[in-house]
Amino acid sequence: MSKSKNIILIGMMGTGKSTVADMLSHELGYRLIDVDAAIEQEEGCTIPELFAGKGEAYFRDVENRVLCTVLKNEGQVIATGGGVVLRPDNCESMSANGWVVALTADPEVIVERVSGCDNRPLLAGNAEERIRTIMEERKDAYRFADYTVDTTALSAAEVTHLILAHY
Ligand code: S3P
Repeated sequence: MSKSKNIILIGMMGTGKSTVADMLSHELGYRLIDVDAAIEQEEGCTIPELFAGKGEAYFRDVENRVLCTVLKNEGQVIATGGGVVLRPDNCESMSANGWVVALTADPEVIVERVSGCDNRPLLAGNAEERIRTIMEERKDAYRFADYTVDTTALSAAEVTHLILAHY
């Protein structure tokens, strides 16, 4: 495929977007952008604090704004938050401004990868049940990606190599 201006990673929490984005940016010499980190910087608080203080709708507005700003630039590897696909206009802007790669994984593996992390407000309570519910709700939302990698049985380095081989 011809080189796009940005590589944009989408997918559920725990599919390895941030780690793989970091590796890709090193390999390609592209700037690394983590949308969640940019949101935290802009708002001056953590994602859980933002959810607790202002709610998910507010978070989604900031996420949309930050994504639009980031997509004005090129030569970046962009790791998005898992819920960025909930807004169709986000999906359209990502497709228009980069090569969109979806990372997937089996729910059991996601549960294992996110266990012990307390930085995901949407997983409060029974994390496994929440992951299965969210995956079901979003099962079609990641399908617009240009390329999809099932990371269930792969290391982050293997996922990175696969993506580079198809870029
Ligand atoms: C979310 C995923 C998180 C973060 C927020 C909401 C989601 O990012 O944006 O907690 O709705 O799936 P990661 O996918 O990087 O965990």
